[in-house]
Amino acid sequence: MCLKLCGTVALWAMVLAVSGVSGADFQGSTHLVPFEEDNILYGRTAATGPIQQLQERLEAGQATLEWDERFGYLRSLLGALKVPEASQMLVFSKTSFQRDRISPANPRAIYFNDEVYVGYVPGSPVLEFSMVDPKLGGVFYTVDNRRTNRVRFVRTDNCLECHAGAKTMGVPGHLIRSFATDENGVQDLLSGGEVITHRTPLAERWGGWFVTGQHGSQIHRGNLIGSGDHARQLKEPNFVGNKTTLTDLPSQFDVGRYPKDTSDIVALMVMEHQAHLHNFLTRLQYEATIQLKAYGHCNYIKSPLEAFLRYLLFTEETPLTATISGSPEFFGAFQNGGERDSRGRSLREFDLKQRMFRYPCSYLIHSEPFRSLPTELRSRIYHRLWAILTGEDDSPEWARLSRTDRRAVLEILTETIPDLPAYWKL
Ligand code: HEC
Repeated sequence: MCLKLCGTVALWAMVLAVSGVSGADFQGSTHLVPFEEDNILYGRTAATGPIQQLQERLEAGQATLEWDERFGYLRSLLGALKVPEASQMLVFSKTSFQRDRISPANPRAIYFNDEVYVGYVPGSPVLEFSMVDPKLGGVFYTVDNRRTNRVRFVRTDNCLECHAGAKTMGVPGHLIRSFATDENGVQDLLSGGEVITHRTPLAERWGGWFVTGQHGSQIHRGNLIGSGDHARQLKEPNFVGNKTTLTDLPSQFDVGRYPKDTSDIVALMVMEHQAHLHNFLTRLQYEATIQLKAYGHCNYIKSPLEAFLRYLLFTEETPLTATISGSPEFFGAFQNGGERDSRGRSLREFDLKQRMFRYPCSYLIHSEPFRSLPTELRSRIYHRLWAILTGEDDSPEWARLSRTDRRAVLEILTETIPDLPAYWKL
C-alpha cells in the first residue's frame, strides 16, 4: 500500500515540478495584513450578511426560533440560516477555544453552507458561528444556547486569536487542520498540522476528525484515535475507513447527541476547498482596498492574483485515485443550488472520481465576496480568466486544464456572470 501511495505522491510531485507549479500560495501569503488600520477598520465596521439579516428579523419579530430539549437552538438556527444538517462533520482534536469540552467521546460538530459555518459541542452553553462578510472577511459570533425568550448573535472579535494569522492567510478567516491525536484528542504538534486545502493529499487529511463515506483504497488519517490506531493503520490500511455512518465505527460516543449520524467525507472536501478560497477572497479584498487607497490602482497585485487563479481553477488539486461517495443528502443539497447555464451545467456538479468537481472552476465565483471585489481587480481577474480559458495563455501552469474543460468553463461563465466584459461574449 505504502509503495503504491508513495509512488502516486512521487509521481504527482514530478508532474508539479515539470509544470513549474508549486503547491504554495504566494510569497508573503502568511503575513498578517493590518486590518484594524484606516483602510479596513475591521473591528469598527458593522458586518453585513445572513447572520446580520437574521438578527434583524429576530429583533423585528419577523423570525422566531424553536427550542429543542436535545439540541437547544441548533436545528432551528441551521434551518433559519439555510445550512444543511447533512453538512455535519465531527472533529475531536482539542483545537478550539472549547478544547476542554471536546474529545473523541464528545466531538465538536461543524456545519456550513456557502456563507456561514456553525460549531456545536454537545453540553456546551454556546454555539459558534463564522460568516463571510463581503468586505470584512471572516466575522465571528456566539449564541447562548440556553433557553431564553431573546436569542442574540454576539459578535466576538477575540476569536481572531486563532482565526487571523499565518494559517488563515493573514486575514480574519477560516481554519481546517489535521493532527494525529492521543486517546483524549490532544494533538501531536509534530504530526503535521498544516492547513488543509483541496491541494492536500488525502493521506494527510483528517487527523482529529471522524470521517464517514467511501473512498476505496485511498487512505486518510480520519477515525484514528491514539498512537495504537496510527500504528495499526500502517499494517492494516483503512481498518477504520470506508464506513457509511458513525455507528459503524468502533467509537465510544453517543451518536444520538448529534442531528445526523455522519461526518461526511464530501462535506469535508467541499469545506476544505471553500474555507481556503474564502480566505483568499478576503486577502484580495484587503490588498486591493489598501492599494487603491495608496496608489489609485491595484496593478501591483500580481502573484496573489495568479495564485488565486490557480486555486480557483483547481490546477493544483490533489488527484483522486478512487471514487469518493458520502451522504446522498449532502450531495443533493449541495448540487441542487446555484446558477446553471442554458444547457443545465453548473459549477456545483460533482465528479468525485478523478477530482472534486466536474468543471474545474470554483462555484464561489458566483458568491457575494467575489462580486464585491473592487471592480478594478475583478476586471483584471476576468481578463486573465479569459486568456487562460480561451487558451491564449497556454503556459505550463495551466497545463492541467484540458481544452474541453476550458471550453466548458468559458461557456458556463459567459452565461452565468452578468457583468463580464463585452469581449467575453464574442
Ligand atoms: C484556540 C484557537 C481557537 C479559538 C480561540 C477559536 N477557534 Fe474556531 N477554530 C479553531 C480551529 C483550529 C478550527 C478548525 C477546526 C478544528 O480543527 O477544530 C476552528 C474552526 C471554527 C469554525 C468552523 C469554520 C471556520 O471558520 O474555521 C467555527 C465556526 C469557529 N471555529 C468559530 C469560532 C468562534 C465563534 C470563536 C470565538 C468565540 C472561535 N472559533 C475561537 C481554533 C480556534
